[in-house]
Parts: sequence; C-alpha cells; structure tokens
Amino acid sequence: MIKALRGMKDTLEPQNQKYLYFIEKCTQIVNRYGFEFISTPILEDTALFKRSVGESSDIVSKEMYQFIDKGDNDICLRPEGTAGVVRSFVENKLDRVGGIHKFYYHGPMFRYERPQKGRFRQFHQFGVESFGVSSYLEDVLIIKMAKDILDTFGINYTILINYLGCDVCMPPFKEKLVTFLDTQEDLCEDCQKRKRTNPIRVFDCKNSNCQELLKPAPRLNQNFCENCKSDFSEILKLLDKADISYQVDSNLVRGLDYYSKTAFEFVSSDLGAQNAVAGGGRYDKLVEYLGGRKTPSIGFAIGIERILEMIELPKKKRDGYYFGALCDEAVDAVFKEANKKRVASSVTMGYSVKNLKAHLKAADRQNARYCAIIGEDELLNKEIWIKDLSEKSEMKESFE
Ligand code: HAM
Repeated sequence: MIKALRGMKDTLEPQNQKYLYFIEKCTQIVNRYGFEFISTPILEDTALFKRSVGESSDIVSKEMYQFIDKGDNDICLRPEGTAGVVRSFVENKLDRVGGIHKFYYHGPMFRYERPQKGRFRQFHQFGVESFGVSSYLEDVLIIKMAKDILDTFGINYTILINYLGCDVCMPPFKEKLVTFLDTQEDLCEDCQKRKRTNPIRVFDCKNSNCQELLKPAPRLNQNFCENCKSDFSEILKLLDKADISYQVDSNLVRGLDYYSKTAFEFVSSDLGAQNAVAGGGRYDKLVEYLGGRKTPSIGFAIGIERILEMIELPKKKRDGYYFGALCDEAVDAVFKEANKKRVASSVTMGYSVKNLKAHLKAADRQNARYCAIIGEDELLNKEIWIKDLSEKSEMKESFE
C-alpha cells in the first residue's frame, strides 16, 4: 500500500470542518482590521528564501524541499508565507503606489523537520502582513489582532515579546556579542556556526550547556539606541493600557533572519514541546532587500494544526433536508422534489428504497433538520410527508 509521506497527513472530517470554521472566523476578524486576501504560489525561486529567511537559518540550511525542475530552475516548496507575499508586493509594484497595504493568506507550508507532535513537514498557516506603517502603534495593533483571534477560540496562551534593535544598535551589539562568544570555547557546534552567520541566534539555542554559558553574555535590551529604547518601552506601555498581558523574553530572537525591532510569539501550555501557536514581528528592511522601495512592514502567522488541536467545534445545528422514497414508484418524484428544494436549502437523498424508520435514521445521521418522505399514499395525494427532526413535528407539503 502506498502511504502518505512522513510528516504529511490527510485531513478528513471533523478536522476539515474545524479548518473551515477557523478560516471563516479569522477572515471576519482580519477584515475588521482592513486586511485583504492574497494568494501566492506554493513553489518559489529558492533564492527568495535564501535572501529573506536567511541562508544561515535552520529553515533554509536544513529544512527546505528544494529541487531543480525540468527547466533547470532551482526552486522550492515555500517554508513560510512572508517571503512570497513580499515578493508579490514588490513584483506588483505596490511599493511604488505608496500608502498602506494589508494582506492575509492561508495555506500549506513545507519544512523538512523531524516530525513529532505538533510538528509536520506539511503544515498550514494563517498569516497576515501589513505594509507601509512605521509607527509602533501598528505593532500593538497587530499583536491585538492575533490576540483577538486566539481569544475568539478561547485559547490559553502567553505572549512573549522582545525587541531586536535596528541598524543603529544592532551592528555594534553583534560585534560585542561575538567578542564575548569568542571567549566561550564550549559552545555547541551550531552556536559556533551562528557566531559567524547570525550571532543573536545563539540565544535561541536549546542546548542547556550553551544557555548556561550565555548567562553573562551582553543582552540586546541593555544595548538599545535611544529610539529603540523609547519605542520598545512605548509598545509595552500601550500593551499595558490595552490590558494585554505579556512576558518580555530577551532570548526570543525568532528563527527567521528578516526580523528587526518587535518580535513576538504566542505560546500555549496546552500544546506539547512545540508550544508556539503563532509568531511574528517587524521586518522593515525586507521589501528593500527584495528589490523594492523601503517599506516598513510587520506580520505574524498562526500554525493552523496547532491551534486546531485546541479548538472545539460548536455543535452544528440541524440543517436542510433529507429525502427518501418508500417504494420504487416514488423514486422519480423524490429525485425531482429534492432538486427543487436544493435551490434554497441543502439537500441529501437516500438512493435506495427503505422503510420509514431507516430513512429517519439516515436523516438523523446527516444532521438534517427535515426528513422528507414520498411513498404510495403521498404519490396518490401529491404530497410530501415531512418530519421536523428538531421540533419533532410532522407536516405535509403538496407537489405538482
Ligand atoms: P514561524 O514562527 O516560523 O513564523 O511560523 C509560524 C507558526 O507556524 C508557528 O508559531 C507554528 O505554530 C507554525 N509552525 C511552524 N513550523 C511548523 C511545523 N513544522 N509544523 C506545524 N506547525 C508549524 C513564520 O513562518 C513567519 N512567516 C511569520 C510571520 C509573518 N512573520 C511576519 N509575518
């Protein structure tokens, strides 16, 4: 038997109902914040992710589904959504139009990671990207929007927030950090590499020995320039005012290289080891980096599989009709009347002739509100016998 690939899974009911319910609710919320739908291809030029997510990131260096296509192009399955949306923003010259542009998207992403609970090789994200607002008010608004979504589904979470500095304070900080890291010979192999490629990622290391060695390391929040110091403190004040609780986590550097300034994650203790349900931040340099005009930008993405784990589907109300025939002669009339009803209602039909009890059972299984039956008597009287399965009442309806 041919099986689905490791880390990839089929989704059937009731999971699919949950997926659609989640997307519908999220769409309502982000529309209220002025976000519009965007769809970008699942396959992209590998260079896009190398340049944006970063060659040294785990995602690009270890986890890409990358291959050469028949036209000799180096392409890959998208590991995340931001880079494609930024490419599209630049390619469609929206950076030249100016103003504010806000997009949301959802769909599959691919990362060749070691599969475990909550971690898949094909997973789905609901993401948003906002272009054109440099004010930190937008950072607070974006966090508030993520919170609105998670609150709608009654998710238990903690917001972790950090600030990754800017072009003024980050370069000297990195130098200072590398000087410190040079004195630490026992850092793991990955951290030795990070020291050369993107030193702040050492703070993300899961190795307990590295975490111990990093305790006396210089910290970014003690080395902010005046603007970053004041912006970060304003953001925290605004979150306080909006009654949004958070934890400042100076180790939160995120696994994608395009971030600067605000970075945040929503983590939930109701998930296992993979506890991040959403993550995002500011990436003010990325549009320019991908060939566009300088455009301040910020966004986040929610891991749909992880959030669905924690969502209960509201019990669906009975809806629509189930049609059934009690004798062979009634099948044509059932077929015709069922099709007429479908103009305004959802309708299913029992294809084989059965007794009333069996049809009522089938209607119940379909979660239909009405069980509509035609038998010999009904054919004679040109009537449909209908049982309302919610109200437990019966009625008759004439037909031509
Ligand atoms: P990310 O933190 O890499 O950020 O992914 C966002 C969310 O996707 C995670 O918090 C997690 O819930 C889910 N996720 C990631 N990897 C997996 C996996 N292997 N299996 C299941 N779920 C997973 C981004 O992708 C950024 N593009 C977010 C962003 C948008 N930043 C700015 N704009």
